[in-house]
Amino acid sequence: MTTLILFSTRDGQTRDIAASITDELTAQGVASETVDLHSAGAIDWQRYSSVVIGASIRYGRFHPSLMRFVTHHAEALNALPGAFFSVNLVARKADKRTPETNSYTRKFLEASPWQPQHAAVFAGALRYPRYSWYDRMMIRFIMKMTGGETDTSKEVVYTDWGQVKGFAQDIVRLARNSSLN
Ligand SMILES: Cc1cc2nc3c(=O)[nH]c(=O)nc-3n(C[C@H](O)[C@H](O)[C@H](O)COP(=O)(O)O)c2cc1C
Repeated sequence: MTTLILFSTRDGQTRDIAASITDELTAQGVASETVDLHSAGAIDWQRYSSVVIGASIRYGRFHPSLMRFVTHHAEALNALPGAFFSVNLVARKADKRTPETNSYTRKFLEASPWQPQHAAVFAGALRYPRYSWYDRMMIRFIMKMTGGETDTSKEVVYTDWGQVKGFAQDIVRLARNSSLN
């Protein structure tokens, strides 16, 4: 049976994290399929034994499609062992990198009709040169207020890939347990 990994990204970091999880699952002999949540279309849930959803934050919000998706598919999602991860820059601070201390993640999980067994928060990437002028100025302002990087020539990846690997290993256990049932 297969683990379905869905991601919602704007600039690609959540996709890269999903790909890293896929690599770890493959290395551990767990089959998976990685799909962009925004173009997932109809899903044949019978094919999957566990599910992972990852999504990033922009201007304080997940993409509205995330809540629409979990609401629409709540029954199928809740019938499978599941895990959620969020990606944002607040999480570059270790004390804001848990589902309880990261307010975007906490609020999503409180409101979501889908209740996954596992959740994680990963620090994302800051890629000034790739942003529009407006976004660059806004992010720089936020970074200045919160003591972060303000050099707009820089690209900084804050993701802790060891943390991602640990989360992937949780999913391996989830997938293995589900195939015993
Ligand atoms: C325009 C813009 C707005 C953002 N707003 C927030 C925010 O409100 N809070 C936060 O923690 N991170 C914020 N971020 C950081 C993103 O969550 C981070 O760059 C993440 O890696 C993006 O993931 P993605 O590439 O998968 O979309 C913002 C980034 C951009 C470009």
